[in-house]
Amino acid sequence: MALERSAQLLAQLRAALHASGGWLPFDAYMQQALYAPGLGYYTGQAGQFGDFGGDSDFVTAPELSPLFGRTLAAQVGRVLQHAGLEAVVEFGAGSGKLAAQVLGELDRLGCAPRRYVIFEVSGALKHQQRDTLRSAVPHLADRVQWWRALPDAFEAVVIGNEVLDAMPVKLLARQETGWMERGVTQEGDDLVFADRPTTLQPPAPETHALPVGSVTEIHPQALGFVRTLADRLTRGVALFIDYGFPQHEFYHPQRHMGTLRAHYRHRVLDDVLLWPGLADITAHVDFTAVAVAAQDSGLEVLGYTSQANFLMNCGLLDLVAAEFAAGPPPVAPSSAAAICRPLGGKAATPGGAHYLRQTAAVNKLLNESEMGELFKVIALGRGVEANVLHGFNRGDRTHTL
Ligand SMILES: C[S@@+](CC[C@H](N)C(=O)[O-])C[C@H]1O[C@@H](n2cnc3c(N)ncnc32)[C@H](O)[C@@H]1O
Repeated sequence: MALERSAQLLAQLRAALHASGGWLPFDAYMQQALYAPGLGYYTGQAGQFGDFGGDSDFVTAPELSPLFGRTLAAQVGRVLQHAGLEAVVEFGAGSGKLAAQVLGELDRLGCAPRRYVIFEVSGALKHQQRDTLRSAVPHLADRVQWWRALPDAFEAVVIGNEVLDAMPVKLLARQETGWMERGVTQEGDDLVFADRPTTLQPPAPETHALPVGSVTEIHPQALGFVRTLADRLTRGVALFIDYGFPQHEFYHPQRHMGTLRAHYRHRVLDDVLLWPGLADITAHVDFTAVAVAAQDSGLEVLGYTSQANFLMNCGLLDLVAAEFAAGPPPVAPSSAAAICRPLGGKAATPGGAHYLRQTAAVNKLLNESEMGELFKVIALGRGVEANVLHGFNRGDRTHTL
């Protein structure tokens, strides 16, 4: 079934190649591979971002632990209350778990927004989001709606976790003669990379030091998205969480082969063009470019820091402590025994297993060598005081952008 879908997508890509004279820029290929209606990675299947095991390919923070969304909610709630805003807008909501976590926690804190709006490009995922929300927060389901298009003007707290990295990128390859645009062509039955002359350049001056043979990305689609958002967000804050760097790190010679990756079943594939529609394709975010695009369109950069700093500032560890003080959630006796029986010993308590799982997840969210440092949070806003953003109180790095 999945291989059939990939074969159909491949046929569609070959037709697109034929129609465009035998060469597609990489962003056009990535757009099809991820979002071709009914066939792309995000549009043709659902359930890719689970924890290890099953059919998932990678794990995102809200899939790892509900504490991620609950901690983010502390920041969202503070902005909602201080700025008197009534809506949260989430871009690229995946399975809907983050929406359920944020909405549930805002409700618990007594500040559930009047509207929780999701903007999602995948029809398959919209269905999954609806199911997740109906089962996790049934009493709040009538506050959730999906936008088909962005309104011309709106006020909200906007959130997006790992959405910018899922937007198609252009590839540039450095040759003796200068930068070429890398695209996709067909050789026999295979899709392969091929370079063409271009006037495109990665941002100067950072890239002057990149040697011949380097490959890197630029992000016109993500930046276009940020500009559109900036034009239409008349008041509020947008919080984007993603892996990436400021420009001087993104285009550093150490990263001379770029950041484009394909993920399949928790492995990084060597060949990004393998199995279109079955593997995720992603590139890191250039946060300097995001900040500049936002500023040029009238939004202020209100904060930029690592995920670890942001979550700690927003009280993740207090939530963990409160969870442990409250004790573990009830576990059915048979499954508890199966999960928790140590080798040759007495069965451990269900609380022990719960504790270990939570600790491992929190470690992954915060640890420098896991998501804590590679992932960043940027806050862009208009008409909201920066001091409302307590997530950036300690360790703000806006000056590094
Ligand atoms: C890597 S997944 C992240 C899902 C979820 N936020 C999470 O953290 O688990 C990327 C999500 O962004 C969506 N997406 C990609 N481009 C989008 C766009 N321009 N607008 C809205 N959603 C988009 C995808 O369909 C998918 O739901």
